[in-house]
Amino acid sequence: MAEIIDGKALSASIKEDLAAEAKRYEESYGRKVGLAVVKVGHDGASEVYVRNKIAACEKVGVRSFAYELPEDESEEDLLALVDKLNDDEEVDGILVQLPLPAHLNEKKVLARIRPEKDADGFHVVNAGGLMLGLPCTKPCTPAGIIELIKSTGAKIAGKHAVVVGRSNIVGKPCAMLLLSENATVTICHSRTVDLASYTRQADILVAAVGIKQLIKGDMIKPGAIVIDVGMNRDNGKLYGDVDFGEAEKVASYITPVPGGVGPMTVTMLLKNTIESAFRCRKG
Ligand code: GUN
Repeated sequence: MAEIIDGKALSASIKEDLAAEAKRYEESYGRKVGLAVVKVGHDGASEVYVRNKIAACEKVGVRSFAYELPEDESEEDLLALVDKLNDDEEVDGILVQLPLPAHLNEKKVLARIRPEKDADGFHVVNAGGLMLGLPCTKPCTPAGIIELIKSTGAKIAGKHAVVVGRSNIVGKPCAMLLLSENATVTICHSRTVDLASYTRQADILVAAVGIKQLIKGDMIKPGAIVIDVGMNRDNGKLYGDVDFGEAEKVASYITPVPGGVGPMTVTMLLKNTIESAFRCRKG
């Protein structure tokens, strides 16, 4: 039976260190680290994520500035808010929750955030930095995935990591981070032919494709580390992209849903924000 990788417990221990860092910042500079969280409209999942992010700020002593904008917010007004937050000296990190309503240009909005304040690591400058191996802010979910894998004590270097999913938020940056840890990386996606032939070769399998229980037990290499990024809601219940009941019989380590990747995403967001705050003071 696989050992469960407890994302909640790992998050709690990292948050203790982050709380100490946030306190050190406040004592050094006379104000709390600040994170602006912008939500537009009423996407059901986003409501939950944003609530969790604001609660986590409170827990580690980061000040949150919450902006809840109406579904029909104009792009002009949203960009004006981003400009204001870019110039606000009490705001160290800015997060615009995705997805945005269809009439808003996501790329344009993300590009408007100053890269130094881009707590999500979604700005092209940070995405490009990740690609080139330059210092940059790393997207939260992929950064959390690397921490979860490392928490097992397993070495990443030389392993075959298969990432199922190619989103800008998870799949692509996760593949880049695994590559920078010297894994051999394969990226699969919803259009991959014979997905199982790839996943069965994975020493590390990251499922981030958004299809409920797509990965069955017979698609997993015995002894693999399985990271399930899926958050598929069905009849009020949350399901991963991995069939947990089957997978836990084959894998060596596996993340549960919920309680695996999700808490780490929030924790890495706080880490990014606190690091941005210190970096900005160093100039
Ligand atoms: N939507 C889903 N995941 C994320 C995330 O990590 N950050 C933001 N801003 N939006 C998201």
